[in-house]
Amino acid sequence: MNFENILTASEAGIFTITINRPDKLNALNHKTIQEIGLAIRLANDDASVRGIIITGSGEKAFAAGADISEFADFNRHEAEKLSRDGNDVFTSIEHSPKPVIAAVNGFALGGGCELAMACHMRIASENARFGQPEVNLGVTPGYAGTQRLVQLIGKGKALEFLMTADMIPSAEALHLGLVNHVVPQAELMNKSREILAKIATKGPLAIAAVIRCVNSYFAYDQDGFETEISEFSECFESEDFKEGTRAFLEKRKAEFTGK
Ligand code: COA
Repeated sequence: MNFENILTASEAGIFTITINRPDKLNALNHKTIQEIGLAIRLANDDASVRGIIITGSGEKAFAAGADISEFADFNRHEAEKLSRDGNDVFTSIEHSPKPVIAAVNGFALGGGCELAMACHMRIASENARFGQPEVNLGVTPGYAGTQRLVQLIGKGKALEFLMTADMIPSAEALHLGLVNHVVPQAELMNKSREILAKIATKGPLAIAAVIRCVNSYFAYDQDGFETEISEFSECFESEDFKEGTRAFLEKRKAEFTGK
């Protein structure tokens, strides 16, 4: 599939999506977000894919926010559509049954920070900078930044960054729990691949179930404890569970098939 604003590549079970507007610091216009959503669907439909990486092209930016030039003249109805459409894509990333890592290679501001937060994990290069600078423009975040930042770093710190628009350097992001690891830029993709390769040795049905269980913690209409009981028991019906337990007892490596 040919995309205009992203590059995609699939290798060794890992599907990589690269936001490719480096001259605009990979700013996320509507089309780019829709292309990311479509690429995520393609990756999820491809049985050979076991994990997904989202990154930005160049060494300066993951994504420096929503494309300000696109929405500067929007009215409230156009703004609502932009926000809803973006939220739909970011939620689809959060609910992807395959692990999604944001390999944050530079600025992750506004929509870029929101995109990274919708991923299951964030690996940052040392030069990465996070932040929600929307109040500088007289607007709130629109792709769930006010929600996921609270989930990841807690209410007090989230309110501080949402109201001051301060940028969060990678070392502080690590301290706050906003990112999982910080590595030199040259090691960013390898570190991300290494984590996905490790996850790929586990049962894919169990991985998808873990994602559903954890998301259930944050779903207001679900009881996460009940979700876990249900997902746990469901696993007992799978071939993977039989293989995993048998392999342990036979002191060999499990060969999971995702069935
Ligand atoms: N939307 C649209 N264009 C953007 C953009 C965005 N969010 N962020 C950067 N760009 C564009 C700039 O307009 C510039 O384009 P130009 O060369 O055609 O003038 C290009 O990307 C390079 O950005 P520039 O500002 O010159 O780089 P810098 O190194 O001086 O500053 C930032 C980097 C990230 C600090 C600065 O670009 C910035 O503050 N961006 C906006 C961040 C933001 O508010 N995001 C939230 C949006 S809701």
